[in-house]
Amino acid sequence: MYAQNIETDQTGADDAAFQARIDAGIKVEPKDPMPAGYRKTLIRQIGQHAHSEVVGQLPEGNWITRAPSLERKLILLAKVQDEAGHGLYLYCACETLGISRDELTEKLLSGEMKYSSIFNYPTLTWADMGAVGWLVDGAAIMNQVPLQRCSYGPYSRAMVRICKEESFHQRQGYSIMMNMAFGTPEQKEMAQDALNRFWYPSLMMFGPSDKDSVHSAQSMRWKIKMNGNDELRQKFVNETVPQADYLGLKVPDDKLQWNEAKQGYDFSEPDWNEFYQVVKGNGPCNRERLEARREAWEGGQWFRDGLMAYAAKETRRRAAA
Ligand SMILES: [Fe+2]
Ligand SMILES: [Fe+2]
Repeated sequence: MYAQNIETDQTGADDAAFQARIDAGIKVEPKDPMPAGYRKTLIRQIGQHAHSEVVGQLPEGNWITRAPSLERKLILLAKVQDEAGHGLYLYCACETLGISRDELTEKLLSGEMKYSSIFNYPTLTWADMGAVGWLVDGAAIMNQVPLQRCSYGPYSRAMVRICKEESFHQRQGYSIMMNMAFGTPEQKEMAQDALNRFWYPSLMMFGPSDKDSVHSAQSMRWKIKMNGNDELRQKFVNETVPQADYLGLKVPDDKLQWNEAKQGYDFSEPDWNEFYQVVKGNGPCNRERLEARREAWEGGQWFRDGLMAYAAKETRRRAAA
């Protein structure tokens, strides 16, 4: 049942008392009172996360049939299936807030809800499977590890399992990069080209600078966002640059330089205009990605109808017994 009105929360919650519980580290569970804004922000965040997992299967699904060996095919298949599972846990977590999976899907297809901008970039070569696992799943881990401690119980618990699988994803990507970077000169060139194309879109995954991010401060008070965007981006750069060095690949940033004083790298910002264009729907693959999701949703209607008809029949049978 989804009777909860998410705009004017009927369960209500005194904001000060709620904040005190959050501050004390007490997890919020589905039936607990919570402010309408907390519920609404979480639905947006978890829903967007769920959509990203599912849409994120598309750029990699593109390569399952073209993986260069049976072993690579099996690994990539397992990885893409993991992402479907992540979507499932997250849709379930989101449903505990009083919205149905159908509603979430409709909001994705209408463009009202977003998914991560990174999945609107094409995957052109096999090396892109390496770059995506290494950089995209790597950036996802940076974001998600702290969320294991977030204040909403179902979200934090989903994140524990997701993070374990994400670290496998990151390693499988890096392992592809190692094969390519230490392979023939042509393979190394492909690896470099993939890094060139995925570097800045990966930096964008952390979102705009905190000073330009509308919801950051409140979300941090509510502990549904645990770190600032800039802080996580810096951490990502600090960890990724030595990995690129090991591969003998060059991060496509002439301003990249170790800064002893801050114990981190100075680096160039991504092009935020490009980011906003992609978020608005004008990225290279936005149309294609949404079209694939729409086709899957419409093509699966007969199956959902069948499940519902079967469930209704079972209910009648049990009632008659
Ligand atoms: Fe995932
Ligand atoms: Fe992943």
